[in-house]
Amino acid sequence: MNVLMVTGGSGFIGSNFIRHVFEDTGFQGRVINLDLLTYAGNPENLADLAGRVGDRYVFERGDICDREATGRLMDRYDVDTVCHFAAESHVDRSIVAPDEFVRTNIVGTHTLLQLVRERAGRIGRFHHVSTDEVYGSLGATGLFTESTPYHPNSPYSASKASSDHLVRAYHATYGVPVTISNCSNNYGPYHFPEKLIPLVILNARAGRPLPVYGDGMQVRDWLYVQDHGRAIWTLLEKGQVGETYNIGGRCEMPNLRVVEMICDLLDERLGLLKGAPRRNLITFVKDRPGHDRRYAIDSTKIERETGWRPAETFDTGLRKTVDWYLEHTAWVDRVISGAYQDWIRNQYGTETRSK
Ligand code: NAD
Ligand code: DAU
Repeated sequence: MNVLMVTGGSGFIGSNFIRHVFEDTGFQGRVINLDLLTYAGNPENLADLAGRVGDRYVFERGDICDREATGRLMDRYDVDTVCHFAAESHVDRSIVAPDEFVRTNIVGTHTLLQLVRERAGRIGRFHHVSTDEVYGSLGATGLFTESTPYHPNSPYSASKASSDHLVRAYHATYGVPVTISNCSNNYGPYHFPEKLIPLVILNARAGRPLPVYGDGMQVRDWLYVQDHGRAIWTLLEKGQVGETYNIGGRCEMPNLRVVEMICDLLDERLGLLKGAPRRNLITFVKDRPGHDRRYAIDSTKIERETGWRPAETFDTGLRKTVDWYLEHTAWVDRVISGAYQDWIRNQYGTETRSK
């Protein structure tokens, strides 16, 4: 691997992944970050990198649905590996406005597959970053394995499921050298504060209500974002072409417990809020339509085949995350101004809840 194209490298997981590639893997080649910079893309996430690695890191603003321009970039930089993160990623937005999810997640992935197919022999791997949400909801017991049938319940997860099927089909039909990973909920630095954990950190810091959907007993399997990045790098090195790998933290947690832990950490770091614990800010709100009850990943396959294991527990990862948000106030203030305000207003009919 000499020239790695990362799509969506300015978003949450993609930017943490690129940082990991340069800082921890010993990679000596080039990374071409192709990102459209939607509301979720933020060049600031990697602003420090350019100065340190020079032209081994290249940013190109562009749309993965633009076949001609993306193909030109692949040729200009002699790309030999593609790691595909670019997507619309927020379930709540997919419920309000699904069109963009179909375009980016399905048409965009298909466009990339066509381009990789045309470059057979030159591009040796297409890694597709996907989600555990494609499997739908679990009951009280059981885990998602790589052979769990797909049962997506939101427009977001349906669009990701569709993209997974296209990736698999391009391997079976045309021999495109693909790998797929389906990962559980990530958290950590540079997470856009529309998602539960950063939203709650920022609201709790400011003394604003903490919206918990339904009864708050939905379960997610949390993984620190840098553990996800390490897993993807491991798959680029050791994953078998044509295979799917589940990635998870073996860390199931009901949403309400997550919110309580964040409140307690902030009380510990900042002191009580006007003499009261931040747990008092918890507000139960209307449930998300089609809300999946429980996700939990069986990551035996990647662990057995590659030796990968998560390094962080939820306790250590959450502490790091809370500290990161408390320390990076300039990043936070810039991110929550502008388009973020419009989203919060549309979603809840109020002005910002996190300033
Ligand atoms: P994100 O929303 O933070 O970032 C997405 C990035 O893609 C942004 O930088 C955005 O500008 C870019 N993008 C969007 N449309 C584009 C287009 N048409 N062309 C080029 N770039 C475009 O998302 P994330 O949370 O970092 O997720 C990254 C990937 O990981 C997604 O594919 C998502 O489905 C998957 N995933 C996310 C999680 C999670 O917990 N966040 C878990 C499992 C899998
Ligand atoms: O499971 C992997 C998925 O995790 C990824 O594929 C998605 O891209 C990523 O956004 C994430 O999806 P979720 O819907 O699980 O994440 P979110 O942070 O939006 O919500 C986490 C849980 O918290 C979910 O059960 C909904 C709930 N929630 C969310 C928000 C934003 C609340 O109770 N209140 C909130 O305000």
